[in-house]
Amino acid sequence: MDGNGRWAEARGFDRSTGHREGAKAVRTIVTRAREKGVQVLTLYAFSTENWRRPKREIGQLMTLLTEFLLSERTTLLKNQIALRAIGRPADLPKSVTRLLNALMADTANNAAMTLNLALSYGSKAELVDAFESLRKQGGPIDENRIEDALQTRGQPPVDLLIRTGGEQRLSNFLLWQAAYAELVFTQTLWPDFNSDHFDAALDEYGCRERRFGKTGAQMQGATP
Ligand code: FPP
Repeated sequence: MDGNGRWAEARGFDRSTGHREGAKAVRTIVTRAREKGVQVLTLYAFSTENWRRPKREIGQLMTLLTEFLLSERTTLLKNQIALRAIGRPADLPKSVTRLLNALMADTANNAAMTLNLALSYGSKAELVDAFESLRKQGGPIDENRIEDALQTRGQPPVDLLIRTGGEQRLSNFLLWQAAYAELVFTQTLWPDFNSDHFDAALDEYGCRERRFGKTGAQMQGATP
């Protein structure tokens, strides 16, 4: 969800206005993803590196997150959306963690879609934690065991990764899970990213040939 700051600065607003508009886009895209039958939507809301931002901006983001957790409760319940946090949510202010835990518990059995909020998330930290827990358990390590040790356990690998805001990098996001993801980079700044942009990314994904190491002919069943 990149580009909130630039969206605001281009209009002469404080960066927090960009984040507030960004939170509106979150609502739009969660709703659209649910309508389109997306199984899992993961939003990179706050990275481990984002703690380096000015205290004031971090505080504003925590306020927005609190408002989101309070205001979207009914929508998540009504639309059968399960909320899950990945990252180190315990790093967040206690008031946010409490709200988050309560909403995760209340929506845990919702089966139509899972909304992962990546909060104080860093893929390298997640992998370190996973490897450390496997080391403690002992035994041979394989891909399935690593997947089960990640915070996304039980979820499918990432099919499509969309980055808004014009940058073309992964920024420590789901590095393992996105190993075979299709990448869509768009110049659109996150606050401007709407249902049409989301649909266009899904359409682009639909046109990609995913080969997973095989040849095109093999994927089409023409050769074994
Ligand atoms: C990146 O844009 C965005 C963030 C670090 C925060 C994203 C947060 C929200 C969209 C709102 C709160 C979240 C929820 C789930 C309600 P940037 O600030 O790096 O933008 P820039 O690259 O233009 O500076």
